[in-house]
Amino acid sequence: ATPPLIDPFQRAITYLRVSVTDRCDFRCVYCMAEHMTFLPKRDLLTLEELDRLCSTFVRLGVRKLRITGGEPLVRKNIMWFFERMGRHLGAGLDELTLTTNGSQLARHAGALRDCGVRRVNVSLDTLDEAKFRAITRWGRLSDVLQGIDAAQEAGLAVKINAVALRGTNDDEIHQMVEWCGERGMDLTFIEVMPMGELDGEDRLDQFYSLDDVRRDLEARWTLTDTDYRTGGPARYARVTETGQRIGFITPLSHNFCESCNRVRLTCTGQLYMCLGQDDDADLRAVLRASGDDAVLEAAIREAITRKPKGHDFDYSRQEVHGQVGRHMSVTGG
Ligand code: GTP
Ligand code: 5AD
Ligand code: SF4
Repeated sequence: ATPPLIDPFQRAITYLRVSVTDRCDFRCVYCMAEHMTFLPKRDLLTLEELDRLCSTFVRLGVRKLRITGGEPLVRKNIMWFFERMGRHLGAGLDELTLTTNGSQLARHAGALRDCGVRRVNVSLDTLDEAKFRAITRWGRLSDVLQGIDAAQEAGLAVKINAVALRGTNDDEIHQMVEWCGERGMDLTFIEVMPMGELDGEDRLDQFYSLDDVRRDLEARWTLTDTDYRTGGPARYARVTETGQRIGFITPLSHNFCESCNRVRLTCTGQLYMCLGQDDDADLRAVLRASGDDAVLEAAIREAITRKPKGHDFDYSRQEVHGQVGRHMSVTGG
């Protein structure tokens, strides 16, 4: 049998996040610059190449595949790729899923379900139309809400991801808990990470520690910690009043790197061993140089030996070291 991928810190790598495009129909302020130069098509892995690469990872023990972007659903013919990946379900792969901004979900929900997708994470930081536009720069909230409805109608479990932003959505957290509760959706809060150039603003000005979010939530809701895990970094609590779960993703206030099980593939075939580090491995070059999957496997194993212990984001505010230069949209979180 193929030995599993184990990194230098004895962590098994079983979760691959795949960014299938750098493009997006939104420009969320914490993810992209307003004016982005997107990659020319020739730099992208073809869907066939992505299939070969991801299938190799599944052979090497990856059990959870999350498709991201940019916005994954803006990639042309992406359903072909979902179909291909769906074939691994029950044959090595336990879960095929995606993180999406929801804008195109209404069109794709049924097909995703047919490919074996069972749940989707939808990024939604606010329920206020004007704030939504301010965060996404030109997104339409109603498209996302329709996408969520369509996904639920298609039988997909929907989880909402909200980046906690002081001064933007800190006055909406209770309403979001209530709204998700009414719709039978879990809600995960994420601490904003200092990625991408700062456009003259300090992203950490908006930092809203999830310690504070939790304390603020507990003023109104009864939260009980659970040991529910998804293979992702969130820790979950159950809300007694709504019956739904709230997830907490705390890269800054409570580093979770010790139990990291994931690596990230970009749409150009670069493998990032850590979200918060710049080191990568060029798997596209390997893939294009050789048709031999054994060569590809060896390159992946070599890359995993370079996985760092963790990120060094720092929010002590005195210094900004640990800032990662690339935008979040390169790896889709
Ligand atoms: P579930 O399978 O539902 O648990 O989702 P997930 O948390 O694995 O994936 P999702 O795309 O919803 O991730 C939410 C966000 O968590 C990402 O976009 C990142 O912002 C953050 N995140 C996920 N993994 C890591 C990680 O390894 N390090 C850091 N710093 N942040 C991460
Ligand atoms: N910090 C934290 N989360 C971010 N996301 C995008 N940029 C950042 C950032 N700088 C989140 C999105 C989405 C997921 C893919 O990553 O809101 O939920
Ligand atoms: Fe697009 Fe998601 Fe980035 Fe927003 S966070 S710009 S929706 S990829």
